[in-house]
Amino acid sequence: TGHIDDVQELRKAKPTLVPERFVRDATERPTLQLANRSPIACVAHDHDSYEVPIIDFSKLMKVDKDEGLWRAEISKLKRACQDWGFFQVVNHGIDLSLVEGIEEVAKEFFMLPLEEKQRYPMVAGTVQGYGQAFVFSEDQKLDWCNMFALGVEPQFIRNPKLWPKNPPKFSGTVEDYSREVRKLCQNLLNSIAITLGLKEGTFNEMFGVGVQAIRMNYYPPCSRPDLVLGLSPHSDGSALTVLQQGKGSSVGLQILKDTKWVSVQPVPNALVINIGDTLEVLTNGKYKSVEHRAVTHKEKDRLSIVTFYAPSYEVEIGPLPEMVDEINHPCTYRRYNHGEYSKHYVTSKLQGKKTLDFAK
Ligand code: SIN
Ligand code: FE2
Repeated sequence: TGHIDDVQELRKAKPTLVPERFVRDATERPTLQLANRSPIACVAHDHDSYEVPIIDFSKLMKVDKDEGLWRAEISKLKRACQDWGFFQVVNHGIDLSLVEGIEEVAKEFFMLPLEEKQRYPMVAGTVQGYGQAFVFSEDQKLDWCNMFALGVEPQFIRNPKLWPKNPPKFSGTVEDYSREVRKLCQNLLNSIAITLGLKEGTFNEMFGVGVQAIRMNYYPPCSRPDLVLGLSPHSDGSALTVLQQGKGSSVGLQILKDTKWVSVQPVPNALVINIGDTLEVLTNGKYKSVEHRAVTHKEKDRLSIVTFYAPSYEVEIGPLPEMVDEINHPCTYRRYNHGEYSKHYVTSKLQGKKTLDFAK
């Protein structure tokens, strides 16, 4: 079965064929720019007039927190979290060699022969290794995407058998990149705490060691981008997600802004950050985990490298007391351990914000 559903193989063998299994029902097709799945076709590109906010990370890191530049950037960040749930960070401090390095090893990996990639299989019901995650039934539509995912931290979530030997630099690059992205997440969480009027260390102290995973998504070109989705609409289960869009990749990430799908235009050397379900719950819904999807392109391929950062499994999640007041902001989520949520998330299909029902 492996060959049939592998989009790179499909594309190689029969470049114009889109098997039924990938063809979306009319209400799910990417040509519909209005969400709520209402059948109103889009006006071409009119959604591109929206731009996801851009945050200058170096300004957030100013030691002197009385400075105007810091203040201004914090209020920008607050608006981005409140109004968008998504933003792009520039001057993020991660070495260009790592940003380019991770892209290079990811590309090299996806270009390996299928047999070699299948030495690291994503076993059904798990989300590590090579394959298609979140597929649970024969009648479920498939995404036009190949994935390779690894648990990175803490050590015990790693499955050493799934760490590729080839390309030789793969594992080392994932380690180095992940270490830097983790620092970025922790710093951003400090700034986000400040935007909420919380003590700077609130999230990091609560999260403990934290759980970190990486997923590489490769979207080959598709002869019928109007019929398929690169990745089904979903919200992330993480606290924060960091996404790197491949240089020279097609535009593909779309987020649900109000009721419209808005493309995230790649900005050179920027990373895309989004709020995950866990922060939505912790903030009692003040900051939302925004639904997003990926679409494909007729001629161009696309690579994205995604890091998920979340609390340690044993951490109890629920709206922070500071985010609840009985009159204006009654508590709208229950309490649970992050480990339970994580398990629920990886055993559910990607379907809008449905996973968050678990927290209601
Ligand atoms: C994701 O949501 O995990 C990836 C979306 C993308 O490829 O841009
Ligand atoms: Fe996502």
